[in-house]
Amino acid sequence: MRLDKFLADATPHSRSTIKNFIKKRQVTVNGKTVLKADTNVSEKDVITLSGVKISLQPKYRYIILNKPAGYVCATEDNSDPTVMELIPPEMQAKGLFPAGRLDKDTTGMVLITNDGEFAHKILSPKHHVPKYYHVTLARPFEESYISELEKGITLSNGDVCLPAQIAKIPDTENEALICLHEGKYHQVKRMFAALGNHVLLLHRIGIGDLILPEDLPKGSCKLLIDEDTKKIMSFGGNFLTKLHRIKKSSS
Ligand code: URA
Repeated sequence: MRLDKFLADATPHSRSTIKNFIKKRQVTVNGKTVLKADTNVSEKDVITLSGVKISLQPKYRYIILNKPAGYVCATEDNSDPTVMELIPPEMQAKGLFPAGRLDKDTTGMVLITNDGEFAHKILSPKHHVPKYYHVTLARPFEESYISELEKGITLSNGDVCLPAQIAKIPDTENEALICLHEGKYHQVKRMFAALGNHVLLLHRIGIGDLILPEDLPKGSCKLLIDEDTKKIMSFGGNFLTKLHRIKKSSS
């Protein structure tokens, strides 16, 4: 890659500003001052600008947060703290936003990114990316929920949900794992209201094949690597097998 492009990609400066830095002898490559903006460089070269080592940052950043209750999924809010306030300074980057909304009282996995296209893929019902929630209900789980959800629940306003999967969590009366493939407003709560039950607690445990790591405390973030982001988009397999795996990892 050209030296001026490398520096423009890795810093907030424009290519013409970088050219001025080069002219003013403020750029070195492997310890030598370089005066040509079109010098060919690679990530292996040690490049400095005004004495500071510059590394190429990946274009997009993907972060998962274990959201605590009490925070809203927004970049700004006048009355409540936002999930963005939980991102530590070293993970901050331009243009980050929460990809999807959990309610203020919902806990668990939130993806925060500056990759709009990726966020759209995760959220669009067209792509069917599964979102897994651990639900605690006010009244006992009923076996009929399994077929009702598979048919598609009709919400109180007449909206029909896409088929969803549910399974009772073994050794509990009123806890279930539910898998949705879309994200309507307050969807899980409205689905259980339509079934005559009520959601007491809601915790998102996974998106696609990416499960919230057991060792990520509430309120903490983790930068994702390539493999993790691929897991979000790679999904399939049997819901019950997954329930077993998720249950094992969250118990
Ligand atoms: N469904 C809900 O009702 N609330 C959430 O936060 C997420 C899904």
